[in-house]
Amino acid sequence: MPGVAPDPPVIGLFDSGVGGLSLWRELRRALPAMPLIYAADTAAFPYGARSAAEVAARARALAQLLVAQGATLLVAACNSIGTAALAEVRAATGVPVVGTVPAIRSAAAATASGQIAALVTPLTAGGLGYAALLAAVPPHVQVWTRPCAGLAEQVEAGVLASPRTRALVVRALAEPVAAGVDAVVLGCTHYVFLAPLVQAVAGPNVRLFDGNAGVVRQVERLVSTSTPSTVQLANRCFTTGPAAPFAAVARRLLGREAAALGPIVQHPIEADR
Ligand code: DGL
Repeated sequence: MPGVAPDPPVIGLFDSGVGGLSLWRELRRALPAMPLIYAADTAAFPYGARSAAEVAARARALAQLLVAQGATLLVAACNSIGTAALAEVRAATGVPVVGTVPAIRSAAAATASGQIAALVTPLTAGGLGYAALLAAVPPHVQVWTRPCAGLAEQVEAGVLASPRTRALVVRALAEPVAAGVDAVVLGCTHYVFLAPLVQAVAGPNVRLFDGNAGVVRQVERLVSTSTPSTVQLANRCFTTGPAAPFAAVARRLLGREAAALGPIVQHPIEADR
């Protein structure tokens, strides 16, 4: 469990790309005065197609970049890190690290039909962290795990409603929806940006779940006793790949709020294995 963030709190969020911006947006709305530093590992995107060891090494280096830039509390804004590499990230940094995992528990508690679906990356679907989530599901609930190869890539390109994006969502949901699923977990932070499309494909009687609100609550708890900085620290954003395309997609996903990311700078990282 993460401890208490040292004062003054500066939150560093990290993901493979733009997906964590869905969590950045919720955190910023909840804690508007809190300095936020975002790091996107676009040079290694997508994490969902990599091994747990590769993602752990990249995520550790990203976390260390954020700490070097002044972050005192880290948020792994990525379910693939949360299910496959969180312990390694925690071991590599001296600050509290909050992670996110697919909101299976909330969906399982809410379902009336006993059928839920989870849209996740291939890495998440195959990992031990995800198996542990499934093991905790009550026996009367059936979980349809749908590894969505290629779907995070659509979001990373800023293509939220193309025929291909829709086809990927339809392919993932057709069978579980026909079986009576009434809860769908958006188990990757990129997929949160696809909520309108997923809702349209799944139908109005299906409720969507993601882990972002739970992470925001956890961060709020961790910073609730902290002393705000007397110096106004500016938000900043790093990407391990080229800055211009990242900025363009961030603007498409966040609209005017993208300006609050602050300067977006390319910053390569060295992963140690
Ligand atoms: N946004 C990430 C997640 O929540 C990873 C997407 C990817 O890089 O494949 O799992």
